[in-house]
Amino acid sequence: MRILFTGGAGKAGRHVVPYLIDQGHQVLNVDLTPLDHDGVDNRIADLTDAGQVFDVMQNYANLSELEPGGGAPVFDAVVHFAAVPRILIRPDNETFRNNTLSTYNVIDAAVRNRIPKVIFASSETTYCVCFADGARKPDYLPIDEDHPTVPEDSYAMSKVCCEAMARSFQARSGADIYGLRINNVIEPHEYKTLFPDFIANPGHRERNIFAYIDARDLGQMVECCLRTDGLGYQVFNVANAEHSVDLSTQDLVDRFYADVPVTRDMGRDETFYSIEKAGAMVGFEPAYRWRELVDLPGA
Ligand SMILES: NC(=O)c1ccc[n+]([C@@H]2O[C@H](COP(=O)([O-])OP(=O)(O)OC[C@H]3O[C@@H](n4cnc5c(N)ncnc54)[C@H](O)[C@@H]3O)[C@@H](O)[C@H]2O)c1
Repeated sequence: MRILFTGGAGKAGRHVVPYLIDQGHQVLNVDLTPLDHDGVDNRIADLTDAGQVFDVMQNYANLSELEPGGGAPVFDAVVHFAAVPRILIRPDNETFRNNTLSTYNVIDAAVRNRIPKVIFASSETTYCVCFADGARKPDYLPIDEDHPTVPEDSYAMSKVCCEAMARSFQARSGADIYGLRINNVIEPHEYKTLFPDFIANPGHRERNIFAYIDARDLGQMVECCLRTDGLGYQVFNVANAEHSVDLSTQDLVDRFYADVPVTRDMGRDETFYSIEKAGAMVGFEPAYRWRELVDLPGA
């Protein structure tokens, strides 16, 4: 597929874009900074500017696309990852403005150009736990896509608004628009740099509901969504199958969630961030397990 990918130079995108290239796709990365990777075309553009978004969406991806004549081809899909990725990087109002306006412009341009598939990055933070003021427990476990999304911070608010916009654009256009409620992204090198702390201090993972997503498995999820048509508007939790600490799921319930209803039996190390919907609807099966990539103390 010929894919327009936004935010490909970022933490998640620099792994997801190579994953998509490896699957045989052609990728144009649209970002404020380029991604230096073989086979990736780059366009520097500010996605909060609708004119720039419409220009890149209707343009050639590279000089070789001039050769056949007949004008710029239409993209087969848009994957929109560009955002300010959490609170406390930019002022709250700027985070909200950047994320909502860029998402409006990207999906608006995609559906007006009859691009049939849009996949966009939402976030675990929509479930209110991650950036809560003080400790906030989930309403129930495991958290599925029906869990309430009433966050109190500007970043997660921007993602809830993006989901609402996406649902409305889907209703008008009939395109497939899938939102990914991505958990905490872990790059391959971070198994060594971060997991020793996760193992020593499991409580440090509570704001992520103890979950994580390997950046390469996130690539797989995007590929699953590209391959699965006809679902209309959907949101999917995206996480790895096990949680990120060296305690059993039951131990975590006993230590951190004694008063939280657990709605079904869970596996020994099963993530509290349910990926059942992604498995059932698009065939997502995360390939990586941190226990196979990290040296456990005393092992
Ligand atoms: N990193 C995580 O753990 C995590 C978790 C949940 C959701 N997400 C979401 O996944 C996506 C990717 O996150 P990330 O960690 O790679 O973030 P990142 O900050 O590393 O990368 C985001 C990229 O978006 C670009 N960008 C931001 N605003 C832009 C604009 N107006 N125009 C053009 N480009 C713009 C930035 O230049 C950057 O390269 C984001 O939407 C983020 O909210 C990330």
